[in-house]
Amino acid sequence: MKLDRIATLTPLIAACLLGTPFAHADDGEAIYESTGCKACHTIDQKRMGPTYKDVAAKYKGNPDAPAMLAKKIRDGGAGTWGTVPMPAHPADRISDEELKIVVAWILSH
Ligand code: HEC
Repeated sequence: MKLDRIATLTPLIAACLLGTPFAHADDGEAIYESTGCKACHTIDQKRMGPTYKDVAAKYKGNPDAPAMLAKKIRDGGAGTWGTVPMPAHPADRISDEELKIVVAWILSH
């Protein structure tokens, strides 16, 4: 009986341990979900804002992209993808650290 339980739990514990190295990618997604980006962006379906696949493709290999995109999300603005503006995202909504993580996550698509 006791051995059965250990056998059931072992894969679960292993899954938790193996999951740890990927926590960073998940963080980006969690920030995207919790800071409201989801209302206007998805990974591959055009909504009010561009898809993150299109964003990643547009800035592929551009070393200035992470800093530029973080600033754009912070300040908001329009004109790159159309005339609809993205609202500003002040520091009480998303921190500099969170911006860095979410931008890296977006560019990884
Ligand atoms: C109210 C809708 C809305 C919300 C909320 C929103 N965005 Fe946007 N986003 C847009 C629009 C519209 C654009 C296109 C702006 C343009 O054409 O310059 C955009 C553009 C972008 C771009 C590309 C910028 C560029 O210059 O190429 C990134 C990256 C981005 N958003 C990330 C985010 C992140 C991360 C969040 C959440 C913290 C977020 N957005 C929240 C509407 C939104």
